[in-house]
Amino acid sequence: MVKVDTFIPKSIEYIKRECTGRAIIALSGGVDSSVCAVLAYRAIGDNLIPIYIDTGLMRKGETERIKNTFLDMNLQIIDAKDRFFAALKGVDDPEEKRKAVGETFIRVFEEEAKELDADTLIQGTIYPDRIESEGGIKSHHNVGGLPSRISFKSIVEPIDDLYKDEVREVARALDLPEEICDKMPFPGPGLAVRVLGEVTEEKIEVVREANAIVEEELVESYHPWQTFAAVLGKGTGVKGDQRVHGWIVAVRAVGSRDGMTAESLELPWSVLKKIEARISGSIPSVVRVVYDLSPKPPATIEFE
Ligand code: XMP
Repeated sequence: MVKVDTFIPKSIEYIKRECTGRAIIALSGGVDSSVCAVLAYRAIGDNLIPIYIDTGLMRKGETERIKNTFLDMNLQIIDAKDRFFAALKGVDDPEEKRKAVGETFIRVFEEEAKELDADTLIQGTIYPDRIESEGGIKSHHNVGGLPSRISFKSIVEPIDDLYKDEVREVARALDLPEEICDKMPFPGPGLAVRVLGEVTEEKIEVVREANAIVEEELVESYHPWQTFAAVLGKGTGVKGDQRVHGWIVAVRAVGSRDGMTAESLELPWSVLKKIEARISGSIPSVVRVVYDLSPKPPATIEFE
């Protein structure tokens, strides 16, 4: 387990050494990038410029929440939805999606960095991201998904030796709000890897709404390590007296220590029925809701 008392000053020193000029950080509002932002702010102060890119692939209300949490830190918010959807058009392979999102991310950051005269990118990559990318399991977008030509002088990853629970410990020691310390992981490619096949605005809207319901029903009451909705594809259903070819939504809720392995949660039937009723009842294009029982392995936590 990480020794926070030594880790924090050491990583601040490391950031100071690596960042000679201005640095930007990709702030997503998750615990990883938030911890990095605070460490970097302590290391280089106003030479740090946190940037939040609204990819259009974020959870419901996320952009507003981040605006409110980090306004003090000179946060720049970039609306790049159209660029992400354009980059994902026609792409249905999961790894290609990660690359498309990763490349678009880095290009947008490069442009911002140029404008801000920043030559260093700070990233919240953690140990499991690195291991799974190196092992070829999934190219996490902030590691293997990077394009090969990077125009930053350096990329600094202060927490890339930590597991998620260690990052949370550091977050508490840094006095980050509880809401951030306990926040579930959310993948860098966002909702793009929670809709199977090609990303469309319609699928993203469906998964965003369904996901909000799943979180409302499960996060507070069952404290899952991670829970979310995914759109699997289309199937036949009946709504009113009409046959409908509508979306199939999967609900995932897992327990885990570090995301390397996971077990699906044994949720009460009544809770699952309520989630099904809320999703099919409030999203007209959804005809079927399923619960994923699979542990990791053989499944992964995300569907793609
Ligand atoms: P998997 O699906 O690999 O997920 O079992 C393990 C943890 O990693 C997250 N995840 C990602 N995070 N970029 C990320 O930053 C990605 O491409 C990515 N894919 C999965 C997943 O949400 C879980 O917490």
